[in-house]
Amino acid sequence: MEDNYLSYEVLKLGECNIPSPMTRIKFVNEEEHVLYHSNLEEIVHQLNEGKRPPHFEIAGPREKIFFDHSKLKCGIVTCGGLCPGLNDVIRAIVMSLFYHYGVKTVSGFRFGYEGLASKYGHVPLELTPEMVNNIHQMGGTILGSSRGSQDIADMVDTLEQMNVSILFTIGGDGTLRGAQAIAEEVGRRGLKIAVIGVPKTIDNDISYIQQSFGFDTAVSESRPAIYSAHTEAVGARNGIGLVKLMGRESGFIAAHATLANSEVNFCLVPEVRFKLELFLKALRERLEKRGHALIVAGEGAGQDLMEGIHGRDASGHISFGDIGIFLRDQSKAYLGKAGIEVNLKYIDPSYTIRSMPANGRDSAFCLLLGYNAVHAGMAGRTNMVVGFWKNEFTHLPISLAVSHRKTIDPGGRLWSNVLACTGQPRELI
Ligand code: F6P
Repeated sequence: MEDNYLSYEVLKLGECNIPSPMTRIKFVNEEEHVLYHSNLEEIVHQLNEGKRPPHFEIAGPREKIFFDHSKLKCGIVTCGGLCPGLNDVIRAIVMSLFYHYGVKTVSGFRFGYEGLASKYGHVPLELTPEMVNNIHQMGGTILGSSRGSQDIADMVDTLEQMNVSILFTIGGDGTLRGAQAIAEEVGRRGLKIAVIGVPKTIDNDISYIQQSFGFDTAVSESRPAIYSAHTEAVGARNGIGLVKLMGRESGFIAAHATLANSEVNFCLVPEVRFKLELFLKALRERLEKRGHALIVAGEGAGQDLMEGIHGRDASGHISFGDIGIFLRDQSKAYLGKAGIEVNLKYIDPSYTIRSMPANGRDSAFCLLLGYNAVHAGMAGRTNMVVGFWKNEFTHLPISLAVSHRKTIDPGGRLWSNVLACTGQPRELI
């Protein structure tokens, strides 16, 4: 319900009076919106209260745009951890700027927000269609990335000095908060610089966005590890396969990898707490019944069970204890004490699931995210991120995207399906 009171309005730099140079395409009508809610009851409730149900502006090319494309300079920055599809998004933005709008100058800032901060002296890459032509075949980002924020006023000085009119920031929640601060500083200075975010996170944890790019690839890339863990488990007496997958505070990768590899017997995610003794008891019962077990643990699962959570990284994230190693050791000790000789194989695919190039689905998704980011920027939208909701690309205010983290609802349908698939006890607490 509280979602109804947040602002879904996207900021505009001014009126769009310039005819778009794009031809042979279907322009988006400014009146097109997509509803936030999908359940009829909520929409009827809103209408009965005399309110317009919450909705997002639809993304896409506008017939009239804000910027004069012939003189425009744009910038792109990639921040935070790597994610499959980063190069696809860079390529799509450059191609769209050049071929759809005739923009000839696109600077690629190096190593995240460091590239905009004067003290590092990183020289931007001048991005052309020739230069980005094949980059989508590679993982990572040709621009380089970094974590952490930089001085906002200094970054806006750089944009002003370089005459950048649209800045595309590709990153997760920290990056988007930075982009929001840049857009606010731009507003305070009365400048006409659009700041457009493209949401990036393999964890798929950005709110009001049904799926972020790279997630699909990360889930696919987790399959070899889960397959191997299962093969090892069934190939031994009392075999246990244990796989840890990325996902700090949201367990979407672990949950979807479980659905994608339905041999998994236990899926542990950060959102659902469990008692170690109950988990170990259930594991023992599984071994006694079936002779092998397969466990997938999201990296943020069970953090309350481990001691020694130390420090923070450059993004301000708490450094987590290693749930994989913890479960490995605890399972061996518990089952050993019970006189059950186990054969446990622990696999941590770690960064391998995010450093790969995007799969086909993600590549197509990245292309359209990049195109829609360009359309939004050219139409003078700012302080926004390209969203994806009910299979439509949307314009989403950054303030909404960072308002809270998207997590698995333990009472919701996804988790219920995971439980139905694994057969693990509903409550381990
Ligand atoms: O992008 C999010 C994420 O993949 C998390 O799941 C993980 O904790 C984090 O990145 C690790 O990245 P790094 O080691 O680069 O900080």
